[in-house]
Amino acid sequence: MTTTDFSPDTLNTIGVLGAGTMGHGIAQVFAQSGLTVHLVDNQPAQLDTALKAVDRSLGKFVEKGKLTSEQHSDTLSRLHIHTDIDVLAGCDLVVEAITENEAVKIDLFRKLDALCPAKTLFASNTSAISLTRMAAATSRPDRFMGMHFMNPVPLMQLVELIRALQTSDATFNAIKSLSERLGKTPIEVRDAPGFVSNRILMPMINEAIFTLYEGVAEAEAIDSVMTLGMNHPMGPLKLADLIGLDTCLFIMKVLYDGFKDPKYRPCPLLTQMVDAGYTGRKSGRGFYQYD
Ligand SMILES: NC(=O)c1ccc[n+]([C@@H]2O[C@H](COP(=O)([O-])OP(=O)(O)OC[C@H]3O[C@@H](n4cnc5c(N)ncnc54)[C@H](O)[C@@H]3O)[C@@H](O)[C@H]2O)c1
Repeated sequence: MTTTDFSPDTLNTIGVLGAGTMGHGIAQVFAQSGLTVHLVDNQPAQLDTALKAVDRSLGKFVEKGKLTSEQHSDTLSRLHIHTDIDVLAGCDLVVEAITENEAVKIDLFRKLDALCPAKTLFASNTSAISLTRMAAATSRPDRFMGMHFMNPVPLMQLVELIRALQTSDATFNAIKSLSERLGKTPIEVRDAPGFVSNRILMPMINEAIFTLYEGVAEAEAIDSVMTLGMNHPMGPLKLADLIGLDTCLFIMKVLYDGFKDPKYRPCPLLTQMVDAGYTGRKSGRGFYQYD
């Protein structure tokens, strides 16, 4: 295969693996851009929830006059759900968005590597795990990179594009063009713990949790200081609930293990909340209560 085979025009059928908080949003933006999408999750209930969430999100765009009803239904018709990963063998690009756990992701990429033809590009939406290590677990490390979407995916402009050490220029350029086709703004970064986004964001969230843990202020007060005083659109504790406290804890552990610096130690309250199953919005309880 030559580098010209990586033209973004050849990336027409997209697999999205994992239909949780991020996966359904990623599937939506690809389908909205006219691409055929196969969304795969091993939990059927997650797929049902994902389809409803996409339908709701598209409906809001229609209400705001940003999409027509026809575009709404066309987008849904391009989005297919599956519990079996075999369908991904026919995809030009697979974007992985499963739970933030390195061993589980690597295991899945090995399976995908055996399943997909050599031309298929792989991307991971990981928040912090080394792309270089994940790429090395496949037989196509040059065709592997990070495609880090932000939450909520249909609304957020940024896609942080992370080059593994092995990522080829052809792969990078194809994914960059594809990101632009989605209407996103791709920003190039290199592989390092937490990349740029979470190396800066997560220690701030962790510090907000320490502030709550030490009784300096209540959750609402901490968030209000950051929204009213720093013009952040959302306070750090509310944002942690949106991201998922399990994901936040995992990212702090990646930073701590990666840099061996105590400034990245996760707050004990964060660990306890995750141990209790209070993972934020997705579980109905985090620093706030949700319906
Ligand atoms: N939540 C955020 O704000 C955010 C932002 C950017 C990146 N990320 C990253 O995106 C990824 C997904 O995070 P999320 O918040 O959507 O997680 P989530 O827990 O909401 O969803 C994960 C999904 O993966 C599915 N899954 C797990 N193992 C699977 C397997 N072996 N095969 C098929 N499906 C499987 C689960 O059933 C679940 O639906 C993580 O790597 C996370 O770090 C999250």
